[in-house]
Amino acid sequence: MGTIERFGHGGDVWTAADAFGVDRKALLDFSANINPLGPPSAVIDRLRSEMMPSIVHYPDPGHRQMKKLLAARLGVDEALISIGNGAAECMALLLLAIRPKRVGVIAPCFSEYEMLSRKFGAEVMHRVGGEDNDFRATESQLTELIEQADVVFIGHPNNPNGALYDRMLLGRLAATAEAASTILVIDEAFIDFANEEEHSLIPFVHRCPNLIVLRSLTKFYAIPGLRLGYAIAQPQHIAAMSAMQVAWSVNGLALAAGEALLTDEQADQYAASTRALIVEERAALRQQLHMLGIRTWPSVANFLLCRAPEGWTAKSLQAELCRSGILIRNCDMYVGLTERDFRLAVKDRAANAIVASALAAVLQ
Ligand SMILES: Cc1ncc(COP(=O)(O)O)c(C=O)c1O
Repeated sequence: MGTIERFGHGGDVWTAADAFGVDRKALLDFSANINPLGPPSAVIDRLRSEMMPSIVHYPDPGHRQMKKLLAARLGVDEALISIGNGAAECMALLLLAIRPKRVGVIAPCFSEYEMLSRKFGAEVMHRVGGEDNDFRATESQLTELIEQADVVFIGHPNNPNGALYDRMLLGRLAATAEAASTILVIDEAFIDFANEEEHSLIPFVHRCPNLIVLRSLTKFYAIPGLRLGYAIAQPQHIAAMSAMQVAWSVNGLALAAGEALLTDEQADQYAASTRALIVEERAALRQQLHMLGIRTWPSVANFLLCRAPEGWTAKSLQAELCRSGILIRNCDMYVGLTERDFRLAVKDRAANAIVASALAAVLQ
């Protein structure tokens, strides 16, 4: 049997259903990290009301309303914003704009950094983050990588483990990147689950010409099927990225959802409820996993990197759980991880109890 992650990512319920002969729609998916509260009601309402106008017209190729609202929300000029079909499209655009020969990544990390870089002809250089430092690289590893590569990606928080770096350290790295003529990409796709005001690098973009910050709206707002993300960088990078973008790649329903999110009066409440839920349920799930002999690492995001007890592989656990209708993310193919490693999304209490008891039944 081939791997469930044959396209490089979690959330592939189609491959899992085919492989295990289970009903795709009945799978409880812990392999993609989506806000368990589901999309805010303002998004659903807007999608209902905008459905016809959005699908019978081409979307705004300049993403003007979305940019205007985002600029006001973030306190940055519109010229510093590129809207993408997910943060993933922004990654592709920046690679197409910069055309790096060498891309540096800190393993383990989101697989798309490496896959896209190779697709566009770059060589990929790894530094492996220390397991006992929650898979962070050291400042000297990072500095050396920035000096050797043309583009360096850092997940902040990093997927699959959920660790943040010190913001001042990232600020120093942005200065190193400027001196080395390297582009430093800080991927903040999951930062809304942490304290973004304290950790985001967006306020640094004004003074760091070689910094690009990526954001996603698909995880925190539970709209991965719509696809919506953005990049914040100085105008020369944004213009170069826009020049590479396929017209209308961000569809009208995604833009309508983004505009609804940015004008939602309940947005702060939704964000606060999400963060409170994730903090509480992540701690409870970690404790249950530890009681089963599963190691986890500290995470500020809505997922946990887990290591199965000795004698088990993530692949065998994935197969066992899938037969009982639960999909987990096998992480054995990540550089820097082991065959015992897997990732679990943090969901609500009831769903987390199901995965914990299914794991207990398999392991005991
Ligand atoms: C770290 C990280 N960055 C970016 C993305 C892509 O996000 P989007 O859905 O906005 O393309 C993912 C998706 O899993 C991710 O894990």
